[in-house]
Amino acid sequence: MPIERIYIGYTNPPQYIPAFTGYHYSAPQPVMTKPFILRWGIISTGRIANCFVTDLLVDPETRDVTDVAHNVTAVGSRSVQSAEKFIAEYAKGDKSIKAYGSYAGVFADPNVDAVYIATPHTLHYENALDAIKAKKHVLCEKPVTSNAAELRSLLAAAKEHGVFFMEALWTRFQPLTLEVKKISESGVLGAPLALQADLSDDFQLNEIPKTHRALDPALGGGALLDLGPYPLIWAILALYEHPYNQGAAPSNVSGTMLKTPLTGVDCNTSFTVTFAKRELAAQAILSCNMNIASYHTGAVIRYEKGMITIAAPIYCPKSFTVQYLEGNKVTKEETRQFEYVGTGWHFQADEVARCVRDGKSESSLWGHDKSLVEMDVFDEVRRQGNYKFPPGVEKVV
Ligand SMILES: NC(=O)c1ccc[n+]([C@@H]2O[C@H](COP(=O)([O-])OP(=O)(O)OC[C@H]3O[C@@H](n4cnc5c(N)ncnc54)[C@H](OP(=O)(O)O)[C@@H]3O)[C@@H](O)[C@H]2O)c1
Repeated sequence: MPIERIYIGYTNPPQYIPAFTGYHYSAPQPVMTKPFILRWGIISTGRIANCFVTDLLVDPETRDVTDVAHNVTAVGSRSVQSAEKFIAEYAKGDKSIKAYGSYAGVFADPNVDAVYIATPHTLHYENALDAIKAKKHVLCEKPVTSNAAELRSLLAAAKEHGVFFMEALWTRFQPLTLEVKKISESGVLGAPLALQADLSDDFQLNEIPKTHRALDPALGGGALLDLGPYPLIWAILALYEHPYNQGAAPSNVSGTMLKTPLTGVDCNTSFTVTFAKRELAAQAILSCNMNIASYHTGAVIRYEKGMITIAAPIYCPKSFTVQYLEGNKVTKEETRQFEYVGTGWHFQADEVARCVRDGKSESSLWGHDKSLVEMDVFDEVRRQGNYKFPPGVEKVV
């Protein structure tokens, strides 16, 4: 018997791919006439800050969002020339955006509601703490801190100062991810049992300076902290968040690290995360590598009655396939494809704006507990892999 194959598309605007039918994602939005506008300050002017701002400036209506919108009002850099260049290149030279030659200038700016932090990992703690103390809401790049103790300290500070705080795990807010979660928890595939995910990239380690953030242990270099959040986010989504798990932390974490002789940071890391404390018994096998070119395997979530395969790249996948199984036989296969204007960083910005508008201290999609699971897992893998940061790098231990 031939298996049934179904293709469904999400696209914004819908007419871009007329062949697609039936499935159209709409962000949750209350009835409002004018959008709530969040005013952003950008901290640092590196690679990912420009990606984020480029998406932030995409008209939200292109993704059916009419309840929130974004303004960039300030950019802070260690040099004012760099902030000015950044505004010229990525914000169309908008003269209303203030360029600062320090991060402190952005934190003190009354026209900034929320700051986006995109400095190297080991600076996140002090940058975020300064922002929180200035009563700014914070969206902080992954990994949110160097270790779990720093994160716990930041969460306490955010609570004390009454501000919203979130790690910029952008994948969690993309429409594809929301759909995978729905299917995963609907029960049609039964309970999740196992998950495999890998993220690898060739960082050309022999070509870049040892002071590059990927190699420098003082900047939290290595594969785990840089690439590890992406395989892990699928385990958190499919296993940690699954109702059978009832919010339990992993029952076991094991990891192994292969270090580069260049600087001693991890170049290849594999780790397993097991959930077996409540009604879920499932294991994730995860890996990340900094020296493998374009090795994108995607992610596979395996259930009692089928599997979901998420296409690479797993930080911003554009399609996934659900296979329904009877024994070893595929009885039905469904592929869903997603397209939108922009790269996908704007969905997390919309979430921040909605949370700030609604007076929330954390997101219900990527809440503080999930960042804590992530940082606790990373601490344990680094402990087992004997990867220690140089003295003084961790501000809280
Ligand atoms: N979400 C994602 O997909 C994604 C992708 C890549 C990276 N990231 C995360 O974003 C963060 C930044 O990564 P990136 O690739 O954008 O790095 P990057 O290009 O090196 O930019 C980092 C910026 O931080 C500032 N900075 C402050 N102190 C620094 C120091 N001691 N050394 C180097 N830079 C310093 C610099 O900006 P100024 O000179 O303007 O101050 C620099 O341009 C990392 O935590 C990374 O994990 C996220």
